[in-house]
Amino acid sequence: MGLNGLELNFPVERVREGEAEIIVPKLDAYRRGPWDYAPSRAPVFYNPAMELARDIAVLALQVYADRRGGSLRVCEPLAGCGVRGVRFALEVDGVEQVVINDLNPRAVELAKKNVELNRLVGRVFVENRDANVLLSGYAAPKMRFDVVDLDPFGSPAPYIASSVRALRSGGLLAITATDMAPLCGVHPRACLRKYGGLPLRTEYCHELAVRLVLGLVARTAAIYNLGVEPLLSHATDHYLRVYCRVRWGKQRANESMGNLGYVLHCFHCFHREVVKGLATPISETCSECGRRVRVAGPLWAGPIFDKEFCQQTLKELETREFRHKARIGKILRLIVEEADGPATYYTLNSLCDVMQIPTPSPKKVVERLKSEAYWASLTHFNPTGVRTDAKSEKVMDVLRKSVRS
Ligand SMILES: C[S@@+](CC[C@H](N)C(=O)[O-])C[C@H]1O[C@@H](n2cnc3c(N)ncnc32)[C@H](O)[C@@H]1O
Ligand SMILES: [Zn+2]
Repeated sequence: MGLNGLELNFPVERVREGEAEIIVPKLDAYRRGPWDYAPSRAPVFYNPAMELARDIAVLALQVYADRRGGSLRVCEPLAGCGVRGVRFALEVDGVEQVVINDLNPRAVELAKKNVELNRLVGRVFVENRDANVLLSGYAAPKMRFDVVDLDPFGSPAPYIASSVRALRSGGLLAITATDMAPLCGVHPRACLRKYGGLPLRTEYCHELAVRLVLGLVARTAAIYNLGVEPLLSHATDHYLRVYCRVRWGKQRANESMGNLGYVLHCFHCFHREVVKGLATPISETCSECGRRVRVAGPLWAGPIFDKEFCQQTLKELETREFRHKARIGKILRLIVEEADGPATYYTLNSLCDVMQIPTPSPKKVVERLKSEAYWASLTHFNPTGVRTDAKSEKVMDVLRKSVRS
């Protein structure tokens, strides 16, 4: 179908996203009904539901670019119609060059048209190779990128090694995972296979999912003497995203290996514990109630947010006119609030279900915990989630009091 002189042999339409004008498959032409997920039927992938994730990526890249200074070379090895790479080139000051790539020739054709439409020829280059082949071609020291944004169907695991190899020291690795069923413990064997760690179907499984992805990144990076520092992580809608800095050095790699470990969870009393170290003894019994605990991991047991980076990302949002600005603001404010907190959170509705009491306001519970000198915050991972260093028994006590008052 033609669109202002651009010939493509499938139905397309123009959409605006951020500062980009993008030609995308006409999703309505592929939808079989209101229930249908059209992006997976279209000949080239474009998912409007990921706009918010791309907006946050623009913010994170801008903060990274401002911190780093100088000009950035960015790679998007799984680009679909090219919207993400085009937006980076248009919206992030300091991005000098973007290499976008897709194995699907029709995606490449469309991405090229989008590069032309946005007058980015000479700054955004489109390639048509397997992502691992492309990234390996940029693994030599002077060829490497400042940023790699990995946005696959499902799991990013098959592309992590080639991504870290294609990053210069201090580079930014941004990753999407949409395989939430394995990562959240619905298919534990698939998770073990892809991420080399066991998930758990706990109320904080979305955080565990982030930690499992970061665990694989840290172990893979360590093979190449690279250490990782997570800067920003979020789980939103059907996917999660992690952003981390990857730096060369055996010592740094050893430090990030030291942040690997396990989360022990007691399904009887809600107690949870973080154990650091990969080859370390793990207790089989709950230190609170003596019953059997379950283990998640190995996974990333260190910080998953860099508070200052998250604050700067929120500040950067103020300067932007995104369609989802209000929702992104809400997510980032919660992240800033929870950034310094301990690992894992309690979801008040699951605790209150077991306790057979109504769920009190999570905000009030946070205030009450703080008034008793505990660390406490809400979490962006779950609307009734409370992150705190208080033990489960204490949290339940506070819940009872909150309901009574
Ligand atoms: C989720 S889509 C990318 C969406 C895009 N990043 C965005 O923000 O709209 C994943 C893309 O990876 C491409 N792909 C799948 N396997 C690939 C491979 N081995 N090498 C390169 N591209 C691949 C698919 O054709 C698809 O376009
Ligand atoms: Zn217990």
